[in-house]
Amino acid sequence: MKKTTIKKLLTVVSVAFLGSLILTGCGKSSSDQSLKQIQDKKELVLGTSADYPPFEFTTMKDGKKQIVGYDILIAQQIAKDMGVKLKVVNTAFPSLISELQDKKVDIVMAGMVSTDQRKKAVDFTKSYYKNSNVLLVKKGEAAKYNTVASLKGKAVGAQQSTTQEKIGKKQLAAANLVTEANFTNLTNEVKTGTLSGVIAEKVVADNVIKSNPGQYEIAQVKLKTPASDAPVSIAVRKNSPALKKQLNKSITKLQKNGDLDKFMQKAQDLQLEQK
Ligand code: ARG
Repeated sequence: MKKTTIKKLLTVVSVAFLGSLILTGCGKSSSDQSLKQIQDKKELVLGTSADYPPFEFTTMKDGKKQIVGYDILIAQQIAKDMGVKLKVVNTAFPSLISELQDKKVDIVMAGMVSTDQRKKAVDFTKSYYKNSNVLLVKKGEAAKYNTVASLKGKAVGAQQSTTQEKIGKKQLAAANLVTEANFTNLTNEVKTGTLSGVIAEKVVADNVIKSNPGQYEIAQVKLKTPASDAPVSIAVRKNSPALKKQLNKSITKLQKNGDLDKFMQKAQDLQLEQK
């Protein structure tokens, strides 16, 4: 075969290949089953980590453990909007993203921030809550821990694989950062004195303070929350535009009718009631 014929042949083949790529690309979006699959099985499976009041926590009802909280109230509404039942699956926070990727759950709501790093693995909806971070310490020690320097060599807790861990590493580099998978353990260790403080989102810290009167307070040291670590969103698998659109619709509705604010209040009240 002549060189030019080979060249021509190669062009034809690569054009055909490109064409098929474009076609499958188009096919993908029109055959997006992300929402339909949930509607067909009539069940939305939510992955969460119920160690995080007021976002999600466990209560006892009629001798049975129940998962409740802000995220659950929102998810119930989302399931209702889809016309399906809600099933809640409880997992340790650091495993949630892989559970979602492995299709063990349909969505993740766990007070989870849509960080740039997580965006590489999964997609996120619009945000339904904005966070800031503080250092939660034992009552009476707020003034003692007033600067970053005051925490030098101190044991400071942060939940593993969270934005709090990142903030600790960056902003409290001189402290001795202790990470654990479970958030509740960390707050208990502040109470017993094993930890000098724990990095926590403000609404979470406020909740710990209110539900344990006289035991905790917020330290005077100021922590910064980078803009990319503030927005809490729902995680979905990549390439699921139909599901994402449906979720965004529910979030917008709950934002507009004021239910998001009501749900946060309700979740906080629920937690105080059970104490
Ligand atoms: N907002 C932080 C993050 O996204 C922590 C969330 C922890 N959630 C939980 N259910 N324990 O990394």
